[in-house]
Amino acid sequence: MKADMTVFDELESEVRSYCRGWPVVFDTAKGARLTDVDGRRYLDFFAGAGALNYGHNPDALKRPLLDYLARDGVTHGLDTFTVAKAEFLETFRDLVLRPRGLNYKVQFPGPTGANTVESALKLARKITGREAVINFTNAFHGMTLGALSVTGNSMKRGGAGIPLVHATPMPYDNYFDGSVPDFLWFEKALDDSGSSLNQPAAVIVETVQGEGGINPARAEWLRGLADLCRGHGILLIVDDVQMGVGRTGPFFSFEIAGIEPDIVCLSKSISGYGLPMALTLMKPEYDQWAPASTTARSAGTTRRSSRRRRRCARTGRTTGWSRRRSRRASAWRPGSPAWPRRPGASSCGRRVAGWPAGSRSRSRSWPRRRARRRSSADCSWRRPARPTRS
Ligand SMILES: Cc1ncc(COP(=O)(O)O)c(C=O)c1O
Repeated sequence: MKADMTVFDELESEVRSYCRGWPVVFDTAKGARLTDVDGRRYLDFFAGAGALNYGHNPDALKRPLLDYLARDGVTHGLDTFTVAKAEFLETFRDLVLRPRGLNYKVQFPGPTGANTVESALKLARKITGREAVINFTNAFHGMTLGALSVTGNSMKRGGAGIPLVHATPMPYDNYFDGSVPDFLWFEKALDDSGSSLNQPAAVIVETVQGEGGINPARAEWLRGLADLCRGHGILLIVDDVQMGVGRTGPFFSFEIAGIEPDIVCLSKSISGYGLPMALTLMKPEYDQWAPASTTARSAGTTRRSSRRRRRCARTGRTTGWSRRRSRRASAWRPGSPAWPRRPGASSCGRRVAGWPAGSRSRSRSWPRRRARRRSSADCSWRRPARPTRS
């Protein structure tokens, strides 16, 4: 086959990017080599921007993948329990976490790096009840709105089309070529009530900035940052999407600095094969998610009766449950007239989980069922306590 690029010009969006720098059509790939349709071979230094740490189509991973497909292993399962998920979690615990003395819960946030960054930011805000996040100059954390808000590049930020808020940039290591003591402005702003810096929920950092120009932070700078966060009750998020999974040597890039982030974002090479996959790791005490509060909407549908779902698929209508729910959504805000005030409800009208047995709601049954289902620990509308740190 000869290279024909007309279909890309004709159909692929102008947003395409890397292919503009490499106007060839690649066909096969193995290890560190790519081959184009004319048989020319290329040494791949790009390696999927960190998604191919094990190379293209590594045999050790291809065989089990093919076996799994051949036996019709589940390839899409929302967040249901599967053998593949159990085996992955056990292996991750036994080979990655335990040997390093790390204790993290694992969230599967969605397939991309931006998904794990979004979930990390949401979780930090939920845990602390604060909005502000500290990011660093030249950082890159992804192209979704939350991830862009903590990204430095003005061209990429401009793509958002709306103001990107609740993030405050601080100088990354060596931003002033060593002429300014580390964290001079950050520490001063935190300690000075006149600085206008809102108390941050979290700091998000790459140990080595990839998209920002391969800027490695010194180990002592990372340790200083971890100390600063601990001292001020700020959660430390390490975005290891690009630098994790062995890219810098050890499995986690932060191991070199000897720090233990509160939340870790992993993606890219975590699937081992360049397939889309991401994880958010969090210290167990910070696993404060309510069920389904940040999974894909469709994940929540597994609880509906399959008969009802089949009927909806046939008729193209939403279920009565979701229609009733969307109709009420606007009324269901704390303080609105429809918001049920029960014994135990706080003065601001927020619901408190665990209404007394036998109490009757002004609404129909689902809010009561939902309220009962939630324990006070996962009550997502309650302002959470500040994290206690050891
Ligand atoms: C450090 C970092 N975080 C997040 C992302 C976003 O990952 P994705 O492009 O899969 O959304 C990237 C992508 O390059 C990245 O380098």
